[in-house]
Amino acid sequence: MRFHLECRECSTPYLPQKVAICENCLAPLDVVYENVKIEKSELELREKNMWRYFELLPISSKKSIVNLGTGFTPLLKAEKISESLGVSLYLKNDTVNPTLSFKDRPAGVAVSKAVEFGDKAVCCVSTGNLAASVAAHASKAGIEAYVITPQNIEREKFTQIAAYSAHVIAVKGTYDDANRLAALASLELGWNVVNITSRPYYVEGSKTIAYEICEQLAWNVPDFVVVPCASGALLRSIHRGFKEFYEAGLIYSLPRLVGAQAAGCAPLVKAFYRGTTEIEPVKEPDTVAKSIAIGDPADGKYAIRSVLETDGCMEEADDREIVEAIRLLASKEGVFAEPAGGVTVAVTKKLVELGFIEKGSSVACCITGNGIKAQELVLEGFSPPVIEPDIKELARAVSGEVEELHAKS
Ligand SMILES: Cc1ncc(COP(=O)(O)O)c(C=O)c1O
Ligand SMILES: [Zn+2]
Repeated sequence: MRFHLECRECSTPYLPQKVAICENCLAPLDVVYENVKIEKSELELREKNMWRYFELLPISSKKSIVNLGTGFTPLLKAEKISESLGVSLYLKNDTVNPTLSFKDRPAGVAVSKAVEFGDKAVCCVSTGNLAASVAAHASKAGIEAYVITPQNIEREKFTQIAAYSAHVIAVKGTYDDANRLAALASLELGWNVVNITSRPYYVEGSKTIAYEICEQLAWNVPDFVVVPCASGALLRSIHRGFKEFYEAGLIYSLPRLVGAQAAGCAPLVKAFYRGTTEIEPVKEPDTVAKSIAIGDPADGKYAIRSVLETDGCMEEADDREIVEAIRLLASKEGVFAEPAGGVTVAVTKKLVELGFIEKGSSVACCITGNGIKAQELVLEGFSPPVIEPDIKELARAVSGEVEELHAKS
């Protein structure tokens, strides 16, 4: 066996089966790998997707892999924002994954694991992105997908999920209400809810973001990595990824991790500033960043521990700052992010202004979802001039700009 499960708190070992919680202390279980050896030179020759890290993913046989080509997404230097902030800002652009969010990483692992377990159906509870991703992977695997979401997620996300022919159940209430229902479906109906029932495997997929950043910076590590937080699993998983590469001798330092949340649902930021890892749940999240509106985060205290361990911090941005950051990213760097992506850039800007991120630092921002999945925010007030297909009308519509911008070139 290449890997086993282990309790995060009391270290009790478990066989790698469909089990997520320690029966002694009820803490979550993690995957632990045995005798992993990876050579940089060999790695660099492999296919450019997340499955290049097979030795560090919890799948026993390569035959079980459900591969949509996820990962090895671009790490773009944000030249203009870097210049205005006085830092070297990189964008880890997960908006271009197969279903347009980073969730293809954990869903890819979880659905592959379900195939390995012989499941005929998978389920998930989701604010929309995971649902689309699980649905797409289930289609590719030829199994059924049941997705449970809060009723109020963006229309675009329902469209995407419907296209993959998943069974959608929209719950009246918040993500936490949907989550409680999904936990009951796992417990009482025996469903494989991938982010509950097989969570130890599911969370492993996201650490490939850390591996890729190391490779894409020629085995250097940025000073800071800024990560949007909902359940907290993504941040913790990225921390694990950097630690695993460090322990394998592939990198020589660790980045400081920053957790970014929307002010309308920021239980981790609030706990961090209270100086505790005990989370006070937010009962009624209220933010445009719906995909990260989780009031009672399952991995919250572990995300805060990761931040503390790396001498990082947690910070929030309000809706206005998030929308501003989305527009900045799109208009200056050509990357169209959904609010969860905007929040990392907004928080980075704030932390540079506060001096927490020192000028001259290198910073990688995780842009985890595509703006096309949350269109309303950007379309507000958008009304293009409608003209006849006539050159004079065209000139009038752009009034003067034509001469200035085009005539001399
Ligand atoms: C686009 C996006 N970014 C970030 C996150 C946060 O992930 P986590 O719940 O692992 O903290 C989510 C969660 O749904 C998401 O959809
Ligand atoms: Zn335990």
